[in-house]
Amino acid sequence: MNNYEKCLSNFNESAWLESLGTLLPSIHEVDRDATAIWFRFYPLALQRFLADAEDKAREIQKLVIQGDYELTDQIDTSHSFLYGHRYWKEVKTEIKHRADAFSGDSLEIADEARSIAQAASKTAGVGESLLLGMAAIGLMTLVQVGWDEFKRSPGTTGTPHGLLAKTPDQIVAERAKDDSQGIFGFLRTVDRQYTVNWQDSRSSGSFRIKNDADIASASALDQSQNWRSKDARCWEGVVPVECRSAACGTCWVGVVGGKEKLSEVQRLERKQMQVFGYNQPDEPKPLLRLACQAKASGNVSIVIPPWNGVFGRKVYEVEESKLEPATTSARKLRETLASVAAKGE
Ligand code: FES
Repeated sequence: MNNYEKCLSNFNESAWLESLGTLLPSIHEVDRDATAIWFRFYPLALQRFLADAEDKAREIQKLVIQGDYELTDQIDTSHSFLYGHRYWKEVKTEIKHRADAFSGDSLEIADEARSIAQAASKTAGVGESLLLGMAAIGLMTLVQVGWDEFKRSPGTTGTPHGLLAKTPDQIVAERAKDDSQGIFGFLRTVDRQYTVNWQDSRSSGSFRIKNDADIASASALDQSQNWRSKDARCWEGVVPVECRSAACGTCWVGVVGGKEKLSEVQRLERKQMQVFGYNQPDEPKPLLRLACQAKASGNVSIVIPPWNGVFGRKVYEVEESKLEPATTSARKLRETLASVAAKGE
């Protein structure tokens, strides 16, 4: 572990999310929610819990983890749903430069991310706001995969396709639009139909959804492909599901566009998200949802994480035991844990 990685490793998950919160307003809207979603798809507390486990395979089994949760396998691809993904090489190169030149004994996450975005934006020839989310993601990736793996990955990215080939402002505008309901659309109520885009980087990555239907049920109606051959968790449509009743945690998704067009989180979903360990922001219409509970009243764009599990209590209890009592991040995490404990009874 080099000095740079060591300093970044001093922060726990809450401290990272706190720093991310200060950066979000400066991140371009096209990637603002996407960046926040990425940090919830790859929780540091879970990575550390598994790295410290004596019998990792057994812990994975106990946490009912399915799919590919390892960031090490996805260093160059985990962020492909961000517009800024195309600048990963520039961001990664800048992180490597700064790590090699670093000789201090402490650093601030947010300041470091800003410096990386500033330098990389000059190389890439675009505004800092388009690289800031990627800079924060790059730093967290380094912490989770370690310096050697970070350096080893080639940093290459594919050419953007589909909606992601448009400009950032066009993408934001497209995500906000709803499908036309035709000339007499104003007369329609329950038979209104919308689109769920599940992969902005592909023109064919979408399925239809009836007004007020939940995302998981709508996904199940799309039999256009053998979804199971692509992801063993996909029994029906492209969204992995099992229970369809907020009991298993399989169907969690990030909402990169149109979260305001989904139904409000109800008590059951709120409680279960904490039990599963998914760090859902405490808002009526947050960016992390259970697809079997979220009902659409317009077009939405989602991202499907490559894994799922049930780790809320076990992992965050271990995280809490390592906390200093007086820090803001410690207090916030303790509040979350208290809430998990209270609602899980
Ligand atoms: S399918 Fe089980 S929680 Fe949604």
